[in-house]
Amino acid sequence: MELVEITNDKKNWGTFKDSLKAPVHRWFTYPAGFSYKAVQHSIETYKITKGMTVYDPFMGSGTTNLLCKSKGIHSVGVEPHPLVYRITNAKMNWDIDFEEIRSFNMDLNLKFDSKVQKIRSSKNTLNSLFPDLILKCYSEKTLYDLCSIKEVFQESSLSKKSKDFIFTCITALLRDVSSAATGWPYIAPSKVKTSSMGKDALEEYNKLSESMLSDISEIKKSADDSYSETQHKLILGSSTDVSGIIIDNSIDHIFTSPPYLNNFDYSDRTRLELYFWGMAKTWGDITRNVRNKLMTSATTQVLRLDPKFKISDDLYHYCPEVAAFIKSSTDQLTELRKEKKGKKSYDFMVIGYFNDVFKILQESYRVLKSGSSALFVLGDSAPYGVHIPTDELIGKIGVSVGFSEYSIKVLRTRGGKWKTNPQRHSVPLRESIVIFKKG
Ligand SMILES: C[S@@+](CC[C@H](N)C(=O)[O-])C[C@H]1O[C@@H](n2cnc3c(N)ncnc32)[C@H](O)[C@@H]1O
Repeated sequence: MELVEITNDKKNWGTFKDSLKAPVHRWFTYPAGFSYKAVQHSIETYKITKGMTVYDPFMGSGTTNLLCKSKGIHSVGVEPHPLVYRITNAKMNWDIDFEEIRSFNMDLNLKFDSKVQKIRSSKNTLNSLFPDLILKCYSEKTLYDLCSIKEVFQESSLSKKSKDFIFTCITALLRDVSSAATGWPYIAPSKVKTSSMGKDALEEYNKLSESMLSDISEIKKSADDSYSETQHKLILGSSTDVSGIIIDNSIDHIFTSPPYLNNFDYSDRTRLELYFWGMAKTWGDITRNVRNKLMTSATTQVLRLDPKFKISDDLYHYCPEVAAFIKSSTDQLTELRKEKKGKKSYDFMVIGYFNDVFKILQESYRVLKSGSSALFVLGDSAPYGVHIPTDELIGKIGVSVGFSEYSIKVLRTRGGKWKTNPQRHSVPLRESIVIFKKG
């Protein structure tokens, strides 16, 4: 294993900062997104050129796929979160009918006042339309306005591409016009957000829609001429099993970032959006429709009686050293859990995480061409103060599924802000890139 510290300018590669300034990338502030510059650097370093194919097994909001498209490179991506998947589809479609979008916008503005009146005077109160969280996050006026935009949108007969575009625009608007602290990643409905005061939902929608359209023109202008000939296979599903969807030895490069082992519940973080669109009404709906489809990375996904939270036979068989480490760390966590108030199932979260990672690495190895590289941007963690060196463990699992070697580049150290907090552990954490080679 080679451990390399990375230079200053690359420290933000694991964050969404750079992407928030880039056309189209910035459409949806996904808290888990990474920098498009990291993808670009990887493509240049590994000499990935036009006509080749890059795979992102944790596609999220599509940073890898978007960058590939703009360079004339084919891509494949897998994402099980239905809301995020739909947004990525919209971001990847540059062949948008500007006229259709603008004519919808005109129609929306014309119908808007009467729609608001109609909803206000109907029997359905806002209480009956939305879960409590939504009611707490908006003033009554804004919520009626958003509701009207949503209804006009849902009643329209637009092409799928335009629908995905407008869906993304309305979704992106939701946190912007909320009167509560709905900044990513946490929602605090009781805190007031001053930056959105006086914002009118329809006006903001109109502005955002126009700026998204000009983003499309901008990205097309700066993209490689061959972008329109590239192919992008975006799969709604789990990368633990892509057999029958992605064929063996078909991928030239992997650039990705799995969920970190830090108890971040991706389904819960998008609760506002899922509730607004009616994709879920309760915690149970979110579990069924989203949470259960994602790989384990949060204690909220753990069911202690479910046998999937036992160390898998594959892990024991192919990488006994890693399995032994996970066993001893999680035994420690099981003991610590007994003393802790929150009784968090970190023990089973860690087991579930590595069981899933094993399958995903096995599949990544299968689909990659010989001589190619796979890069995983990830962070380690220390639940209840027990350090789990995720990068090293993933590196070792990768070698056990066939990769010839791995190296680790440290992007930045994390968690320093909690040094003085006695409630938190003091283990220094890091964000790194694990690099595999298929021999
Ligand atoms: C760190 S984020 C990646 C973000 C992405 N790089 C971007 O720019 O938006 C990890 C993503 O993995 C997704 N994910 C979770 N379980 C998955 C699974 N079993 N298969 C594929 N993706 C999964 C999460 O929903 C999340 O979007």
